[in-house]
Formats: sequence, structure tokens, C-alpha cells
Amino acid sequence: MVGVGIHPVVDEGLGNSAYVVELGDGRALVVDPARDPGAYLAAAERLGLQIAFAVETHLHADFLTGSRELAAAGAQILAPRASRLRYFHRGLEDDQKVDLGGLVLCAMATPGHAPEHLSYLLLDGDRPLALFSGGALLVGGVARTDLVSDGQTEPLARAAHRSLRRLLTLPDDLAVYPTHGAGSFCSSPAGDQRTTTIGAERRHNRLAGAADEDGFAAMLQASLGSYPRYFRSLRERNRNGPELLGPRWRALPELTTDQVREQLEAEAVLVDARPVARFAAGHVPGALSIALRPQFGTWLGWLVDADRPLAFVLDDAQDRAELVRQCRTIGYDRLVGELAGGMASWRAAGLAEQAVPLVGARQAGDGPVLDVRQASEVAGGHLPGAVAVELGALAGGPPPAAVPSGPLTVMCAAGQRAMTAASVLQQHGHDQVRVLLGSAEDWARATGRPLARPEGDRPPGAAAAGPPVRAPVVEVLYTDRCPCYPEAVALVERVRDELGIEAEVGTVRIADQEAAERARFPGSPTVRVDGRDVEPGSEPVTEVTLDCRLYRHAHRFAGQPREGWVRDALLRAIDRSPTGAAGPAGG
Ligand SMILES: [Fe+2]
Repeated sequence: MVGVGIHPVVDEGLGNSAYVVELGDGRALVVDPARDPGAYLAAAERLGLQIAFAVETHLHADFLTGSRELAAAGAQILAPRASRLRYFHRGLEDDQKVDLGGLVLCAMATPGHAPEHLSYLLLDGDRPLALFSGGALLVGGVARTDLVSDGQTEPLARAAHRSLRRLLTLPDDLAVYPTHGAGSFCSSPAGDQRTTTIGAERRHNRLAGAADEDGFAAMLQASLGSYPRYFRSLRERNRNGPELLGPRWRALPELTTDQVREQLEAEAVLVDARPVARFAAGHVPGALSIALRPQFGTWLGWLVDADRPLAFVLDDAQDRAELVRQCRTIGYDRLVGELAGGMASWRAAGLAEQAVPLVGARQAGDGPVLDVRQASEVAGGHLPGAVAVELGALAGGPPPAAVPSGPLTVMCAAGQRAMTAASVLQQHGHDQVRVLLGSAEDWARATGRPLARPEGDRPPGAAAAGPPVRAPVVEVLYTDRCPCYPEAVALVERVRDELGIEAEVGTVRIADQEAAERARFPGSPTVRVDGRDVEPGSEPVTEVTLDCRLYRHAHRFAGQPREGWVRDALLRAIDRSPTGAAGPAGG
């Protein structure tokens, strides 16, 4: 980006990016700030800037906005007029321009992820510098459309198609800064890149490849997994305006054992945020295990109602400020305190404890297994016979009937979600639960046995049984001077066979410069699936070349496309999640 500094502030747990944007006159704007303004104010101070504007793309479902906090520090709030915010702001509509004191912000109505959604084009005169796309255009996708109401999901998916088509008319080299990204439950599967360009999305965005609005809406809705319960209440809280945090918002009072017991009798939830091994060794009966990590807030929001008072058990060295920040980011404000002295004081008082046995990968398959990962993760392979129930499905009542009674090993991708599930099951009287510290892959390695697949023994991403999947058009473009295109053909055929995809691998000889221009040929060999180069996030082709040394500009001298690109392109072509997609909410 020439002339304008754009500084992302990433919330890894929520998978979201806010952006601090330099306006060139000693001021800055912040796009989609989360509730704690600290990181934005610190970035502005470091850069010697005053935050003059807080800009909202939509009413957020996954976090409370920080715009009111920034307004209290002197910023003007800019937001979609259709958000109908109940606090002071300047409401914007489609095509409305805001003079930022030199640069201009132009609103673009892009409904879909939310009905009121605006994207913002940052302009220097007529020249577009950046697009802040919120949830209307993500790296490799668009944000989900089912967060408003069940009845709106499909109409919003259709609106998202029109919004995407509109954004993709912008110049190829325009940098795109989405709010939602890898790890966000607001997005359908996405890769780990957080920013992109219009050209890259035109070429590689799997939803941009949909043939028409019907196909787009079907593809988008088919990709929607579950999301935390608190999402359905935060839009309204953001419309009303979150309460200001005040100076002592990080405080977490200390509670005696008696006070903790009183709180529990008064409907508080005791959240044990210690690492899983510490919880396993001994915890307060009825405590909910959510190990403190970037995804702490997400699982808290999934499993506990926002109006319940919260008390905590922590180890000495754990970061209280981070725990409180995560709670308040999602609007959990009834933080009554932590058990003073932690479990040691509980023990010293002679009070009852519970434990959860831990097992290693080799023992995990002895007896019934409950796999609490997301369905999209289980689809990649699970222990044979394991019962799959997403962790989020254990919220709010007795466990689903599918959960076996009696001895049970609970597992996820590492052990943290499994321990949360085990603690919920203990609350409901399951006293023979144990937790696998490890993953399904660890089990396969330890035992030498293959993982099972939900729909039979297919490799990850292979076409499902049932109606035949459309065969993608796969081509390898090459020049006569290229020594390595046969290798590329062999690579593509091997990946195709591993995935069980029916597709001929065609070859296209680029004989001369004219053919190269016509095919927009970036270099030899180039692998194309359904007309798109397989390289992810690549710049648009600006230099057509016959030079066989280049694969693509960004991967000069690589010689060959990477196997992962080919695999992901083929999986997208048959409408399966790419292997590179980030797992949701970690651990
Ligand atoms: Fe969103």
C-alpha cells in the first residue's frame, strides 16, 4: 500500500481483524474495533496519531463493538444508517462519501452477511486505495448469512451473491481488508491468509466460481456449520450500544472459599480456566473447564448464558487481564471474582474435589469414545466407532441421547475441548469419563490403525458416495521449452487419484507469444482447474510469459505447483472444504 499505513489488529480467538488506518494528517480511523480499545489506542499512540473515526461495517454478532469506547476518546462513529444504532453516530448509506480530511471513505451497500452491511472504499481522489470488506468478501469466501434469523438465511445468501459480484467489479490490484478470517465462526471455511486483492478473489474465491445466484446460495448454505449461541443476542446489544468499560474493567476480585460456595448457590457458574492437566488432577465439583487460550471466550459464549454470574479458578501465573478481556469482548460482564489462592485454598479447607483421568493415544480406543470436534473436523477422519457430538451441542441441558453412558473416553483435537465436554458430562452425573490428551491422528500413529470416515473409508475430501460429482476440467499449460511439465502432469494425476476424483488431465501447449496472451499464461507449467490457476492468493497475471523458469510471480523459480494447491483446487472444484482450511476455535 503506497502512502497509507494500514495496521491490522487481529483477535486470534475470534478470527477477526480490525484495522488502524493512517489518514496522512496525524489522524487515524479504526475499522470494526472490538470492545477493548486498548490495542487501537496503543497503536495510534505508537504511530503518533489521534483516532478520529470508528467505522462499523455491520452489527457484529460475535463481539461487542469498541466504537463507543473510541468515541469516548474523541472519535466520530460512522456506521450503516440501516443499523439504526441507538447512540450518537453518523449513519451512512450506499455510495455516500465521507471526507476524511484529504482521503475519502465511500460506503458501498453490500448486504448478505448482515442486511445493513456496508463495505468501505478508501479513495485518494478517484483512486481506490483499499477496500474494507467486513464480511461481504473474505479470503476465499464470504461471511455466513444465518446469523440474523433462520428465515433470512437464504434471502441474505442471495443478497451476498449480488454484493460479491459488485465488489468483484473493482480493480484487480485493489487490496482487500476483511473483518472475518481464519478461525472465525462468522465465516464459512477460509484459509489462513487474512488480506487479499480483488484479482486474487476473482480468480480463487470458491464462491465467486458459482455459476449463478442459485448455485451460490446453495454452496454458501451447504458450508454453514454451527456457531455459538451468544451470536444471536449480540447484534441487538450492539444496536443499543455496549456499556462503557470504565477505568476498573479488568478487576477480578478475590473470593474466599465460602464466598465461592455462596456464589454457586446463587446461580453463579464456576469456570476453571487452568490448563487441562491441572483440572484433571483435581477440581471443584461442578466446575466448567475452559482452559485459558485465545478461544476461551468463544467456548464460554457457547456453553454459558450471558446473564449468569461467573466465578473463576486460576493458577497464579495466568493472565487475569486477558481472561477478563475475552469475557467482556463477548459481553460477559457479570464477573464476580476468582477463588483466592486457587485450588490450594479449596483443598486446605478440606472441601470435596473431583478428578478426570487422562489417557494417551494408545489407550484411547479401549471402550466407547465421544468425539466433540466440529462436524467439519470429524469428516477428515475419526476413531472407528466413535460417537460424534459437537462440544457446542452439550450446552444448556442434559447431554444428547447419543452420548454413551458408562465408561467413556472424550476426545477432540488436543484435549482442551474434550476436557470442557468431560466437565459438562460430570455436571450431569457421568462419573466415568476420561480425556484423551491428543488427536485422532495421534491415535492412528500410535496404533498403526487407519481412521474411519463418516461416509465410509474414503480419503479426506474425496467425493461422497451417491450422485456422481461433476468432473472438474483440469489442464496443465506448458511450453516446449519447459522441462518439468510432465512432472506437473504426474503430480496432478496422483492427487486426483488420491482424492478419487473422476477427471481427465488435459495438456495445453503454449506455442508462441500470441497463444500465451490469449491464455493469460503466467509461466510454465501452470495447472488450471475449471479455468482457474491453482496457486492461492496469487496476484493477477500482469506479465504474460513464455519463460519456463517461472511458475508464478510470487513463487519464482519454484518450478512446480505445490501439491497442496492442486489438492485444494480439486477439493473446491467438487465443493469440498480445502485441506488448508483452519480448524475452528482450536484445541
Ligand atoms: Fe460479522
